[in-house]
Amino acid sequence: MTFPPAPRINPSILSADFVNMERDLQRISGADLVHVDVMDNHFVPNLTFGMQMVERVQQTSPIPLDVHLMISDVDRWGPGYAELGAASVTFHAEASQNPVLLARRLREIGARAGVAVKPGTPIEPLLEHLDEFDQVLIMTVEPGFGGQGFMASMMNKLRTVSEEAHRRGSNVWLQVDGGIAPGTIEQAAAAGANTFVAGSAVFGADDIDGRIGELRELARAHSHTP
Ligand code: DX5
Ligand code: ZN
Repeated sequence: MTFPPAPRINPSILSADFVNMERDLQRISGADLVHVDVMDNHFVPNLTFGMQMVERVQQTSPIPLDVHLMISDVDRWGPGYAELGAASVTFHAEASQNPVLLARRLREIGARAGVAVKPGTPIEPLLEHLDEFDQVLIMTVEPGFGGQGFMASMMNKLRTVSEEAHRRGSNVWLQVDGGIAPGTIEQAAAAGANTFVAGSAVFGADDIDGRIGELRELARAHSHTP
């Protein structure tokens, strides 16, 4: 599968209308990937949907799926999301016994393997294993809900991964998720992010296509390689 070049804008369907999902998937067809937040009311204090819904989104979406698993026991449940055909599956390091083994399993099945860290989780232990992952997701809010404020204090963490990726000549995708909008995406792009999740900023816009284009242009204008 070939993927769109950076900067990538991935709208989060957490902010879509759950009973009009097919319509809302069409509305974001100009985006790069569709970000699908799976929450189990255990790893995070909110509940969305599971494999049955993600399979229908996979069958319905005009653009590839970027699944973000906010679930416990992800070593057991994560591979199923790759098996149903999601292009990218990102799990939380905090929820896995062995992130490297899980990433290898996801790649074996044919998905891009992503690892995510909550704001309080340091990135350093993962850096030596960077080549095992296709994406690193730096959360810029506490996971669980859309519409929260962007944590600018995460930019140091993002710069740390970005510098290490550059040192290794890696083309790992650096993703940010939480509070991304015009006014915050610039900082994330400048700190090295190349893949941007936006929920409320996209679905809350009057002109959804226009907002996706605006975010992409702002990211492009502020991105730089360290
Ligand atoms: C939050 C989710 C995000 C959420 C972002 O835990 O992982 O993907 O949809 O929403 P906004 O862009 O509104 O902060
Ligand atoms: Zn997410």
